[in-house]
Amino acid sequence: MAKTDRPNFGSKLGIILASAGSAVGLGNIWRFPYETGNHGGAAFILIYLGCVILLGLPIMISEFLIGRRSQTNTGGAYSVLAPGTQWKWVGRIGVLAGFLILSYYSVVAGWTLEYLLQAVTNSFAGKSTNDFIASFQSFSGNPWRPLVWLVIFLLATHFIIVKGVEKGIEKSSKMMMPALFILILILVAYSVVLPGAEKGIEFLLKPDFSKVNGEVFLGAMGQAFFSLSLGMGSLCTYASYFGKNMNLTKTAFSVCIIDTMIAILAGFIIFPAAFSVGIQPDAGPSLIFITLPNVFQQAFSGMPALAFVFSVMFYVLLAVAAITSTISMHEVVTAYLHEQFNMTRKRAANFVTGCCIFLGIFCSLSLGATKEYTLFGMSTFDLFDFVSTKIMLPLGGLLVSIFTGWALDKKIVKGEITNYGTLKGSIYPYLIFLLKYIAPVAISFIFINELGFLK
Ligand code: TRP
Repeated sequence: MAKTDRPNFGSKLGIILASAGSAVGLGNIWRFPYETGNHGGAAFILIYLGCVILLGLPIMISEFLIGRRSQTNTGGAYSVLAPGTQWKWVGRIGVLAGFLILSYYSVVAGWTLEYLLQAVTNSFAGKSTNDFIASFQSFSGNPWRPLVWLVIFLLATHFIIVKGVEKGIEKSSKMMMPALFILILILVAYSVVLPGAEKGIEFLLKPDFSKVNGEVFLGAMGQAFFSLSLGMGSLCTYASYFGKNMNLTKTAFSVCIIDTMIAILAGFIIFPAAFSVGIQPDAGPSLIFITLPNVFQQAFSGMPALAFVFSVMFYVLLAVAAITSTISMHEVVTAYLHEQFNMTRKRAANFVTGCCIFLGIFCSLSLGATKEYTLFGMSTFDLFDFVSTKIMLPLGGLLVSIFTGWALDKKIVKGEITNYGTLKGSIYPYLIFLLKYIAPVAISFIFINELGFLK
């Protein structure tokens, strides 16, 4: 299956930024803060860090080595490394999860464009808390407006994918990731000096272990998977475009550090600001769409120009973070169809975009117009979220760790870690230990709990 004319990323920096671009997204800026808020703050963050190091890092290295060694898409990689076995299903589940996640993720990504438009046209000015709640509900429940944004967002993703790996994915990540980082730092600097911000900082830094229970652990593990883009082959697919001299361990460390730093910085934007105006941190998924514009208005009530700049910057950064992530999901499916079914890249991308628009429409409508139709008590949106992130991602991660830890020839694992002898690879024994024992046991535990067997 290895093809000699496969595209490649052009530079090491490009590889790191594209992979970090995949990892950094709504997961960091939308999901991480509300999960932290719901789970009590600093203690959750500490447990999250443990999950990143013990589970995220080894599984990320595994996805990297599977992708680079096989030199093909996730859907085909396992057939190259373990021909004639059922391991190929790991890749196929990933492709399916890619469709589902991309469809509902793009709905939320579309909302960021609506809020960006509102910020640019200064529509937040003078609104009260109740106005923000009402406007979010009327927007997300509107049958048309979110669909328009969904389609625009998916077409933008499509456009970058069609341009290809180096000119599309790498080039856009190289521009967007540094911009994102600078925007975040500016917003943090604004936020932490607001009056009363100390309480938010304390919430993020002073752990209260009395709030820790099983659910906090499990929430942190799920968040680590989602945020690091693990379990469905995004990073595996990207790694198939890595050069032979790329240090996989170092790259995984860099991506984990960047991703974690951005999540924590997002916390430092949101909580000091929220505490400053007396808003509770546990508002849930609407935190950045209802609470935040409200915070901007109140925090800068005497300075409308600052409120305007702050809001525009925030939603720009959210949209940028989201698109570098949707690209990586789209690429998993596009590369699979292109390489396994001999479709041209463009046709494969058309198909993926078309299907995701179709599925995304159902997700979006299920929050408003078709709210009364539920399956297993969930809307289509919640069902996609549940099935993909709570079932398919942990299952994918579990299988990846078992595959690398137990099934794959250790010469390959060691070879990829050391670039076949040129690097020391002193991490190797720890990596194998984590993959063989720690990751499978810990993930099985999340999995069983999330399916409710323990309750
Ligand atoms: N990690 C991204 C975020 O934090 C989302 C994402 C991209 C993802 N690719 C993925 C999540 C693959 C799970 C699997 O927003």
